[in-house]
Amino acid sequence: MDRKEFILKAGQGAAFLFLGSCLQSCSSNSSDIPTAPQNVNFTIDLSKPEFAALQGPGGYVYQNGIIIARINESSFSALSQTCTHQGATVQFDAAAGHFHCPRHGSNFDDSGNVINGPAGSPLQKYNTSLDGNMLRIFS
Ligand code: FES
Repeated sequence: MDRKEFILKAGQGAAFLFLGSCLQSCSSNSSDIPTAPQNVNFTIDLSKPEFAALQGPGGYVYQNGIIIARINESSFSALSQTCTHQGATVQFDAAAGHFHCPRHGSNFDDSGNVINGPAGSPLQKYNTSLDGNMLRIFS
């Protein structure tokens, strides 16, 4: 095997390995994705330090598999934190005003609807109710 042939074969091998790992990580197996929380009913106290991020618009926290974001002074959004594409944890992008999955770039509105994929299904949405400092999240 001469040098040129060696380089060509090494390049083909590297391309094969890269393609294989990409196909494995890019394929979607919905059975591996945790399901959205069901029968949800809990309350959080916004005055507690662990929920301080929710004291102002744009902040968000995770609780019981749910991302809870303060959209503005008077409204919250509570969605399953698990991206419906491949199960990554979504974030709230306050500047953009939507929920964002950092793994492949899906975006969701504050009702959980897909703005853009690759996710093809919405995030489960939960109800919220604020009474003083007590925020209830429920199905
Ligand atoms: S896991 Fe792929 S976009 Fe969220």
